[in-house]
Amino acid sequence: MARIVLGVTGGIAAYKATAIIRLLTEAGHSVKVIPTQNALRFIGATTLEALSHNSVDPDLYTDVESVKHIALAQEAHLVIVAPATASFLARLASGVADDLLDNTLLATTAPVLVAPAMHTEMWFNAATQANVATLTSRNITILEPDAGRLTGEDSGVGRLPEPEVIVETALGLLQTQDLIGQHFVITAGGTQEPIDPVRYIGNHSSGKQGIAIAKAAAHRGAKVTLIGANIGSISARNVDFVAVSDARELQKAVEANLDKVTALIMTAAVSDFRVESVSPKKIKRAIAGDKISIELVANPDILASSVTRIKADGLKCLTVGFAAETAASESDLRQLAAHKLMSKGCDVLVANDVSNGQVFGSDQNSVLILAKSGIERAVSASKTEVANAILDILIEL
Ligand code: C5P
Repeated sequence: MARIVLGVTGGIAAYKATAIIRLLTEAGHSVKVIPTQNALRFIGATTLEALSHNSVDPDLYTDVESVKHIALAQEAHLVIVAPATASFLARLASGVADDLLDNTLLATTAPVLVAPAMHTEMWFNAATQANVATLTSRNITILEPDAGRLTGEDSGVGRLPEPEVIVETALGLLQTQDLIGQHFVITAGGTQEPIDPVRYIGNHSSGKQGIAIAKAAAHRGAKVTLIGANIGSISARNVDFVAVSDARELQKAVEANLDKVTALIMTAAVSDFRVESVSPKKIKRAIAGDKISIELVANPDILASSVTRIKADGLKCLTVGFAAETAASESDLRQLAAHKLMSKGCDVLVANDVSNGQVFGSDQNSVLILAKSGIERAVSASKTEVANAILDILIEL
């Protein structure tokens, strides 16, 4: 049972706090709700009290002798703020502490999850984005808003994520810090091999599974270097992000980190081939005609060469490879996975069947995890749960 402080600020999504309280109490946690004065315009203190089974008194100047904000801050195992308004993000980023919630947040050392919700324009406003970046750099986890229906007839980015997602993410922050002292290098996304200044050879990898592993490892206390191939920029606490585009850039980034890491997790879909001579100018159809040939040469196998270096240099680094396969059956997938585990020489191989195209870009995954040591585990769950299952195996190893 964890003691959780739930801050609720004044936005239309404040009513969703009821579902968050329900999910947390049903999971056996104790919830203390701190609404702001503006949140109480949207939802009543009586509702929050009844659902949380705890009194709700957001006034900083009542019950002064118990020094409420410090007691709440010190007792909390976890603090969630949902929904968080733009104004709240600004206050927290600048350290303004005018009410009980602000003061509690400044005083706590517990992990903090903030789930902003507001109109799209307000979310993308440079001030809001700067505040989010500041909070992220201070180890506060920001759960990005969803895209969808907003308050009025309009739709866009800014919707509060579903209560189930908020609760799952928040409880993830409570996880045991069993990876403290570990440094993971995780690759994610898909490489792009240039053909000319406009075109490239790419693949459908969204990077979601790799990002999920990076965040899960960081939540469990690891220092993470996330090497992202064409997935934009990810900012999360304990995660250093390195952006790359093609296979050779990815190889350089991996090699630069290899001697200081305890695990290398290669989720990135790396192009096996690149264009031998990249055209410096755009290839024009009028000049090239109706048929062109592009000569491809093999890229280095980064995972296999890393395994070779780890063995040669006696480095203490576990290696995890991924294999996206189009398998005819479960036993076919197992055979392909076992073969790849051997051929790459890695410690763990995670295989998924991408035949029906359901994996790319999805939040769910269905994988078979095989380890050289004989461990075999099939997991069908969210990409975050799959991430934690892989990390559990690394701990066992
Ligand atoms: O051989 P295949 O591409 O199926 O292997 C996939 C695994 O190998 C992934 O972990 C991927 O990141 C890694 N890989 C690599 N270098 C390549 C191709 C794949 O490290 N050139």
